[in-house]
Amino acid sequence: MTSDEERLNLVQRLAEKQSQKNELSLSERAAEKLAAMQKETSSPKPNIQTPSTPAAATNNTTSADTNTNAPKEKNHLSQPDAKPPAKGKFAEIDLARIQRDGFISPNLPQTRLAEEFRTIKRPLLLNAFGAEESRIKNGNVLMVTSARPGEGKTFTSLNLAMSIAAERDLHVMLIDADVYKHQLCTVLEISSHHGLVDLLLDDTLDLTDVLVRTNIPNLTVLPSGDRHPSATELLASQRMADFMRDIAERYPDRMIIIDAPPVLASSEPGVLALLVGQIVMVVESDKTDRYTIDQSLDLISNCQNINFILNKSTNSFGSGLSKAYTYYDEYHK
Ligand SMILES: Nc1ncnc2c1ncn2[C@@H]1O[C@H](COP(=O)(O)OP(=O)(O)OP(=O)(O)O)[C@@H](O)[C@H]1O
Ligand SMILES: [Mg+2]
Repeated sequence: MTSDEERLNLVQRLAEKQSQKNELSLSERAAEKLAAMQKETSSPKPNIQTPSTPAAATNNTTSADTNTNAPKEKNHLSQPDAKPPAKGKFAEIDLARIQRDGFISPNLPQTRLAEEFRTIKRPLLLNAFGAEESRIKNGNVLMVTSARPGEGKTFTSLNLAMSIAAERDLHVMLIDADVYKHQLCTVLEISSHHGLVDLLLDDTLDLTDVLVRTNIPNLTVLPSGDRHPSATELLASQRMADFMRDIAERYPDRMIIIDAPPVLASSEPGVLALLVGQIVMVVESDKTDRYTIDQSLDLISNCQNINFILNKSTNSFGSGLSKAYTYYDEYHK
């Protein structure tokens, strides 16, 4: 039996055991609380139409896209209703600072980076919320990973989240699943909160106890939580599997983006690949070699929808980010 089959069997056995317990799952309990919290801000189901010229989602490689049927973006901060939520944990993201740090800010929707991520998000959104025949199972749950450290996972996760949160009618839950570095929370300066690890450890907690709302109305963040020596095991546990399955089903109108650790440096992405609908695999231009990519793909092959982003490219004739750069420059010159 291969290690993948063993892992699958383990998850299946644990699933049966869990279902026998006949108890409310994390998000079932959370759902009631969250429903009450979200009465004011809940959004209708997104209505994303398949574009007449479909984007390159079919070959699972991001590329420029001319979709004009896309949901309209709005600058939330310019909206009179952009208020902090009344209940739950809340973090004020310093938008000027993250913008200085090289991330997309809703204050400045017309930047080259924002344009690139508009291109990148389209096929992912179509996989998640497109026409029924093009939608994929659990497509709204997306893991961002890469082979090795430092290739741009957090950069991609946060920018993708910012870009999707700019869509009307779409909410984003950004999960910091890098329990060793919790770099996402560091960037957003919300590292002191409890989070995913605590949720998995303590069954008296529910999602709404640890979910952090932000000054971007469509963006909530689930911090990684306190460091724990068994964090890897927790992320590979049945409780995690239940949690992932539940949030995918309970929040079908929400894009759930997971900033995961690197595939070759930790086992979590391999386990999470079983649970997510889509993966964005960040490939660092001129650095990540073919052999490394192949090795990584073997480990996350349980997910059928793996998309690639070529990051940090300076070559204007490549794919992914570099292609978007070219279009933007030509259009805006
Ligand atoms: N496209 C880009 N343009 C400019 N800088 C980038 C780009 N992508 C990533 N970086 C920078 O490269 C560094 C590493 O990126 P990031 O932290 O996102 O990598 P990571 O894969 O999340 O790393 P880790 O494995 O340590 O979590 C950061 O300083 C980030 O700002
Ligand atoms: Mg990171």
